[in-house]
This record gives sequence, C-alpha cells and structure tokens, in this order.
Amino acid sequence: MGKTVISDHPLIKHKIAVLRDVETDTQSFRTIVEELAMMLGYEALRDLPTKTVKVTTPITETMQQKLDCDITIVPILRAGLGMVGGLLSLVPYAKVGHIGLARDEETHKPYEYYVRLPHDIAEQIVILPDPMLATGGSAIHAVDYIKAQGCKKVIFICLIAAPEGLEALRSAHPDIDIYVGSLDEGLNKNSYIVPGLGDAGDRIFGTL
Ligand code: PRP
Ligand code: URA
Repeated sequence: MGKTVISDHPLIKHKIAVLRDVETDTQSFRTIVEELAMMLGYEALRDLPTKTVKVTTPITETMQQKLDCDITIVPILRAGLGMVGGLLSLVPYAKVGHIGLARDEETHKPYEYYVRLPHDIAEQIVILPDPMLATGGSAIHAVDYIKAQGCKKVIFICLIAAPEGLEALRSAHPDIDIYVGSLDEGLNKNSYIVPGLGDAGDRIFGTL
C-alpha cells in the first residue's frame, strides 16, 4: 500500500490560501506553485534510496550518503509544468518527460494529446506533478500510462485534491504514494474543486 500524505504544514496552508485568492496575479501564482511543489516534493522524496560514498573534507575522510536512484519528473500538461522548476531544484539531475492530458468540457473525462518519456522510464522513480486532483480521471490515466511502460515506483504530487478524486486515484492505484497540499470539500457540477482555486492551467499561464 502506498502512502497518502495530506500536508498540515502552516507554510503550505498559507501559500495555498494566497493561491486561492482571485486577486493573486499570474506572476505571483506561478511563483507560489513552484514553491509549493518544492515544499511538497521535499516531503515526498524523503524515502529516496541512498548509497554510502567516501568524501574528503578539508579535515578528514568520511563516509556519507548520496542519492542512488534515477528520477524522472513527468508533469501532466499543462498545469503540471508549473511544478517542474520547484521539483528540479530538489533533484537537478532528474529527467523530465511530458504527458499531455486535457479534460473534455462536457464529459470531464481526460483525453491524451502528447506523450514524451525517457527511453529508460521503466527503471526510473517517476514523480507525477499536477496542481489539481478533481475527479481523478487525469491522474489515473497518467499513472495507467506510466505503469504500462514498466514503472514500479510512482509518486503523485498535487496542491489541491477533492475527496472524490483522491479516493478514485487511491482505489485505482493502491501502490503509489500520493502527496496532497490541501484536501478540499468536493466538486461542483462542472467538476471543479470547491473551494479550489479555479483553473490551475489558466492561472499559471495567464490564459483566463
Ligand atoms: C486540470 C488539472 C488536472 C485535471 C484535473 O487540467 O491540471 O490535470 O484538470 O481534473 P480531473 O482530476 O477531473 O481529471 P486541464 O484538463 O484543465 O488541462 P490544463 O492543465 O491544460 O488546463
Ligand atoms: N482542473 C482545474 O484546474 N481546477 C479544478 O478545480 C478542476 C480541474
């Protein structure tokens, strides 16, 4: 069973409150999404495997721990792109794949329009960022796709989740780790998260 972690950190709560505000402009929104991705990512990566290596300090030789894993960040386009910079600041050597999904406005089901992944994705730890987990359709589709490539370890990170989406993703993929900044009240009739923050992609890219 994978972990489900809902953040209770006051800094994360504060930054999400600012993001929700309709008055927050595109530039600030983008910066805060990146900061939140870094903060949630820091927690989500706490179990990364390490190996013991010898380091020579100015004083002596010492055995220390360094990361011992390959990591690929696969943002769910578009909005997931806003989280990539924050995650790369934690693991600058990570590869970056892309999976393009958009929700049909009538059915709210995701359709895939672009995929590009590293050829060795099966051996990678995959971090899947998307600011919003609403019905769960997009995240489930993305994890289905990633697992079909042979990936064994997937970590999904979102800023805001609806209970419906979290439950759907958890039951479709019991083995993945899921990190959430805020668990909101639910979905409205258009499958938007309430209270939510509106359309994350539009707010990140200024396409409102
Ligand atoms: C948003 C969001 C998720 C999806 C969540 O993307 O970034 O990918 O909706 O909804 P779901 O859980 O019901 O599938 P959207 O389809 O609006 O595309 P965009 O990122 O290009 O704006
Ligand atoms: N996608 C968003 O960007 N926001 C929501 O509330 C739901 C789906």
